[in-house]
Amino acid sequence: MYLKGLLTITLIFILSTEANVRIFKQWRQMDFQFPSNAIRQQAINNGYYVPANVIPIDVAVDYRGNLDSTRVFVTMPRFTTGVPASLGYTKSSSLLIEPYPSYDWHSSNGKNCDGITSVFRVAFDGCNQMWVLDTGKIGNIQYCQPQLLIFNLISDKLVKRYRFDKSMYVDNSLFITPILDVADPGRCSRVKAYIADVTGFGLIVYDCEVNKAWRVNNKLFYPYPNYGKFTIAGESFDLMDGLLALTIPKVPLRQDTERSLLFHALASGTENAVPLRIINNATIWENDANAMADEFKVIGTRGIQTGAQAMDKNGNLYFVLLNPLAIVCWDSSTSYKTDNIKILHRNDETMQFASGVKVVTNLVGEEELWLVTNRLQKFMTGTTNLSEINYRVHVANIKALLNFKDKCNGPSLRDDQTIVFPDRNRKRMAN
Ligand SMILES: *[C@@H]1O[C@H](CO)[C@@H](O)[C@H](O)[C@H]1NC(C)=O
Ligand SMILES: *[C@@H]1O[C@H](CO)[C@@H](O)[C@H](O)[C@H]1NC(C)=O
Repeated sequence: MYLKGLLTITLIFILSTEANVRIFKQWRQMDFQFPSNAIRQQAINNGYYVPANVIPIDVAVDYRGNLDSTRVFVTMPRFTTGVPASLGYTKSSSLLIEPYPSYDWHSSNGKNCDGITSVFRVAFDGCNQMWVLDTGKIGNIQYCQPQLLIFNLISDKLVKRYRFDKSMYVDNSLFITPILDVADPGRCSRVKAYIADVTGFGLIVYDCEVNKAWRVNNKLFYPYPNYGKFTIAGESFDLMDGLLALTIPKVPLRQDTERSLLFHALASGTENAVPLRIINNATIWENDANAMADEFKVIGTRGIQTGAQAMDKNGNLYFVLLNPLAIVCWDSSTSYKTDNIKILHRNDETMQFASGVKVVTNLVGEEELWLVTNRLQKFMTGTTNLSEINYRVHVANIKALLNFKDKCNGPSLRDDQTIVFPDRNRKRMAN
């Protein structure tokens, strides 16, 4: 019912350019559909459900034939104990999270490595399959090997599992972002997954066709100390997070003749790229995981921190800045600089840390931007107030967001006088 309403509202938005970004759902705290009230109570008593410890990080939408059965997935990593299920979905008007594929997959809390331990992000391959990246960790403890799990979204059965062996990760590893490049759309037998190891500062390439993975290291996967302090809505914390965001444009970037992977670290102000030809060649990385350093390039500077990002079919990249709290876009056929980064939507309250960003095609074939925001600063500083709205899933029709143009447009970041760039600031201090 709620989703039918969503479609209606989306259509109204096409007529109105105001309030292009709609809150789909919001929560004070995440709550779950437990198998029974007794099991819920047991989880609370055992410390397996501590509401303040459950924070949504990613969103993904499984549009299924009709709107009522459509599922909006959210991930809730186990930064610590107290998270009863690390992956689940909501449907229709319910705010409860239904554990996916079932509660049993999550309830061992690290004891059953055939289940799911902790998930930061997921990816869809366009063949009704969801790729779930499991860190295998609860807090700092590596209970299980990291793994990729592929679920069929029609049967909700596990189709494939790949466990990463010890050569693919280090003690500090945390596999947080999977993205997919499908060479045979509609069949999905030739798929490569690219995985960001945020605190091991590496990139893992998994070739599904040959069922093999290799690890790639580069200095651009590291955080920059100058960008290691985060201030969101007046609260600050330090976080030296490396490689987080990965995107593969469908066509070569401006002036290139081959396709690249775009990437950035969370604690950074640059966007970077490496040709796929380089990272796809297993031979290179099996010989030397630090090879080809010169192939990894900074393509431009935004001078502001940002987390996840996603690209639409026209090559527009969407991401949310941390300061100001704004959804922005960049047309990847232009050079990456603040003149070409356009502000689409700014909201100091609702945009407090977008950790999940996805472009999703809806039931009428239109692209939508989906975001999850989670006030990470509250979690990091231990000031979460469960009486306030802390978590939000947002949706925007991309056509409306772009004022019915194909390419990213709007006021440029550079022209916004209210923004103090760290780099600009530094220059001013030097003068
Ligand atoms: C992979 O890299 C190796 C070593 O540089 C090179 O000899 C080989 O031709 C490359 N393979 C492909 C398919 O590009
Ligand atoms: C928590 O939020 C509620 C609602 O906004 C507010 O009334 C209350 O004072 C807050 N508690 C703390 C400790 O800030």
